[in-house]
Amino acid sequence: MLNFNYCNPTRYVYGRGEYRNIGYLLQPIAHKVLLHYGGGSVKRSGLYDTVVQSLQAAGVEYVELGGVKPNPSVELVRQGIELARDAGVEAVLAVGGGSVIDSAKAIALGTPHSGDIWKLYTREEQQHATPLPVAVILTLPAAGSENSPNTVLTHEQSQRKLGYGHDSLRPVLSIVSPELFLTLPPEQMAYGACDMLCHIFERYFTNTTGTELTDALGEATMRTIMQQAAILRRNPQNEHAWGQLALAGTIAHNNLLGLGRAQSWACHGLEHELSAAYDVPHGAGLAVIVPAYFEHVWRANPGIFAQWATNVMGVTPSRDTEGVVQEGIARLRAWYRELGLPQTMQELGIPAEADFGAMARAAVSVYGSRLGTDHLPGVMPVNTAAAESIYRACCR
Ligand code: NZQ
Ligand code: ZN
Repeated sequence: MLNFNYCNPTRYVYGRGEYRNIGYLLQPIAHKVLLHYGGGSVKRSGLYDTVVQSLQAAGVEYVELGGVKPNPSVELVRQGIELARDAGVEAVLAVGGGSVIDSAKAIALGTPHSGDIWKLYTREEQQHATPLPVAVILTLPAAGSENSPNTVLTHEQSQRKLGYGHDSLRPVLSIVSPELFLTLPPEQMAYGACDMLCHIFERYFTNTTGTELTDALGEATMRTIMQQAAILRRNPQNEHAWGQLALAGTIAHNNLLGLGRAQSWACHGLEHELSAAYDVPHGAGLAVIVPAYFEHVWRANPGIFAQWATNVMGVTPSRDTEGVVQEGIARLRAWYRELGLPQTMQELGIPAEADFGAMARAAVSVYGSRLGTDHLPGVMPVNTAAAESIYRACCR
């Protein structure tokens, strides 16, 4: 296990109806907030009205900005920064899924920042002031942004999707009420479950040794995600399953499961280029990339892949390591199919003639430049040629 330094100060409030207390929970944090939300689901469900009533009852003033799109854009963030500055808000309240939370984090980061917010994402600027506090009411368990220090934004003109991470961006408060997920369409549940599972893959498939505890915690969380998502596929109104899935999704990405391990993020690096160029949902893109990535790299560390196949995918242990790993990957593909997730680039709407070479170069350069390498990290380094062949394997 490697050295680590972990700080996770988010107040995490779980349970039916807890979002009704948002006003009182915000009182010690801010007198005035920017209420940030997406394209309309919060209004259709009535959640918006409940939140506004709670803020008013607690005497917390607010200005609002809706309209966050999936794969949130830097343009709306710029509007949010102006609004937050003009109104003098002291915190940003995100009511939504990962896109709304990431947009809220960017506004919180940009409001006290004197430079251009996008330049923090491109790393052209490195320094920033302390962001405003971010509070969250989660409406979609998926990205884990409710407890992560990360935000991912899309710059539509340049078709770039980049992340930024800083401990100060972990929300100060996150409220998770499982009944808010009952209005989600089945494909969003599937994208979400696929994303959270991949957040563990990126940490679990490592060459670091001596990680027995986080191995076991990760395996339990992966099994929970797979089981609860299958239950929800059959019965989307199972509130208990939503609660289990949401808690697993938070743990999957708050880095508890990554402590003391080298991490990969290769699948995310490859997927973000698909979302940036073709605006596909993040979880759908991951369902296509992950099996091809596993096929490409598993031989670099057969032990960890065989361990996953037996402890998570329920494959009977055997000396035939290749058979065990291949059966694990086949069962993962079957789970994606059961959830209705895409399996190929074509099913994602990405043509076989797409410029995979350019996407491979972009994926490797984004991650490589941050780490000072010419490859994506993981059990096996993935250079530009390997990245392109993984993309092409997804076309078959
Ligand atoms: O916009 P509205 O109308 O609210 O509709 C949303 C949106 O269309 C809808 N939705 C959300 N809650 C709902 C609901 N519909 C009905 N009932 C509800 N209760 O769901 C759609 C998708 O929402 P979105 O927020 O885009 O999905 P998700 O939570 O999967 O977030 C995806 C974004 O998170 C980023 C992804 O790259 C992507 O941009 N990620 C962020 C991470 C982080 N900050 O740590 C890590 C992840 O790896 C990921 O990259
Ligand atoms: Zn993700």
